[in-house]
Amino acid sequence: MAEERRLLLRMEQIDKRFPGVHALDHVDFDLYEGEIHVLLGENGAGKSTLMKILSGAVSRDSGRIWIGGREGLVEVSDLTPERTRALGIGMVYQELSLVPYLSVAENIFLGGLPRTRWGAVDWAQTYHRAWQRLQDLGVSIDPRAQVRELSVAEQQLTEIARVLESHPRILVLDEPTSALSDTERTRLFELIRRLRDRGVGIIYISHRLAEIPLIGDRVTVLRDGKRIATLPVTEVDEDRLIQMVVGRKLTEQYPWRNNVRGEALLRVENLSLPGVLRNVSFTLHEGEIVGVFGLMGAGQNELARALCGLEPRYTGRIFIANQLIHLRHPWDAIRQGVGLLPRDRRDGLVPLLPIPPNITLGQLCLGSPFRILNLRQEIQIANTYVERLHIHPPILNRPVFYLSGGNQQKVVLARWLCSNVRLLVLDDPTRGIDVGAKAEVFTLMEELSQRGVGILFVSSEMEELLAMANRILVLRQGQISAEYQRGEATEEDLLRSASYEKSNGGSR
Ligand SMILES: Nc1ncnc2c1ncn2[C@@H]1O[C@H](COP(=O)(O)OP(=O)(O)OP(=O)(O)O)[C@@H](O)[C@H]1O
Ligand SMILES: [Mg+2]
Repeated sequence: MAEERRLLLRMEQIDKRFPGVHALDHVDFDLYEGEIHVLLGENGAGKSTLMKILSGAVSRDSGRIWIGGREGLVEVSDLTPERTRALGIGMVYQELSLVPYLSVAENIFLGGLPRTRWGAVDWAQTYHRAWQRLQDLGVSIDPRAQVRELSVAEQQLTEIARVLESHPRILVLDEPTSALSDTERTRLFELIRRLRDRGVGIIYISHRLAEIPLIGDRVTVLRDGKRIATLPVTEVDEDRLIQMVVGRKLTEQYPWRNNVRGEALLRVENLSLPGVLRNVSFTLHEGEIVGVFGLMGAGQNELARALCGLEPRYTGRIFIANQLIHLRHPWDAIRQGVGLLPRDRRDGLVPLLPIPPNITLGQLCLGSPFRILNLRQEIQIANTYVERLHIHPPILNRPVFYLSGGNQQKVVLARWLCSNVRLLVLDDPTRGIDVGAKAEVFTLMEELSQRGVGILFVSSEMEELLAMANRILVLRQGQISAEYQRGEATEEDLLRSASYEKSNGGSR
């Protein structure tokens, strides 16, 4: 059993400090051949930092690292990204690192494009092999497409394809499924298991606790830079994991939802977008949370974007408070009090500004008629959200650039939660956010709805939709294929209504 397997990696007493933060406090970590080792912890716990030390992107203050080779474990001291690649370590970073203006294929083979005998780039080979790599992942992305045209999910998959091209022996996946839908995730898991069976060691980071029993062999929990435990996955259940991650018992994941429903706020009639949405019609009331579920590319993201003026080519009619609105530009939406938390949050932050202006950006939060930004007020608002969403470290004068991935997400989210909108469109609001802060996000959503704000809640997490939405609309190939009232549907119902296969003669 475990004794028979070879160690691929041993990290011992790894220590790292950043100004004001003890990011890693003497952490031990190891990985066997043919093992999937899950790394778990709150936003800012130190997961990415530990992996960046392994990849040579960040230097450690102290600690030792051994990597398994033919002759057994060999200690490595000066790790650089080039060196780790040569050692067979492949890393999919949390922040996407593709080159936006190059094609998918060029990104996959970056630095090592297939050549012909004469030394020229063999484009036919390049596209063919890229296509094959993507097929392995079960996706049909055009290898000739420019990366900047891809959705976040497609970029994530391209990034994985790129790392696999180097045939790593140790593969690190830092939140690879955060933007993926269930089907894509299932395919990715199949691929990961195939790699494991070939002896690859995999380090897997995710905030989706439900994934862990599906994919993990062992799990290590970090909290505040310290290793809390390393255990076989079969020995822990979700409650125990949550407790280890957040350091306390979490009473309720979801708030109690009231069912107050006011006047019709948003009415959408026959909304269509060429090739994406077909005759979508629905109404959303004040204080209502309407969930939208669909597989990747079913049109849910475009629906969200259209309502915020980002898809000006739509046809059909959109009414807000019974008034016909033309949403040709984001300003049209903002003027109507519509806010969007987009799925793709790369543009959401001003990295070199600290937390307070990033939250109050555009003075969205301020109710005063003149909307004059008051510095004290700004700090006060920031403090509230830093506390409620556990934004960590709570240092208000440092650029958000230095926050961990999940904490940056919380800042963008806070901006919309504190804004004075009457209709809020949230596309995957809990992406990359840890289990403790998620509960707080849901509570904030409930508070907004109590105040009469209408929320269109797009998510790939069925559990969240079932717990939070008053109604759920399911999109399939750009059309509404089903609508469920609160408490009416199960996850299976949602998936069945969302998938392409038409059940023969079934009632749905
Ligand atoms: N370059 C940096 N400069 C200053 N502080 C940093 C830097 N990189 C990371 N940190 C801090 O180190 C801590 C650990 O960050 P890390 O990115 O490892 O967290 P994480 O566990 O990956 O969190 P998440 O789940 O949000 O991705 C955080 O407090 C973060 O703010
Ligand atoms: Mg991280």
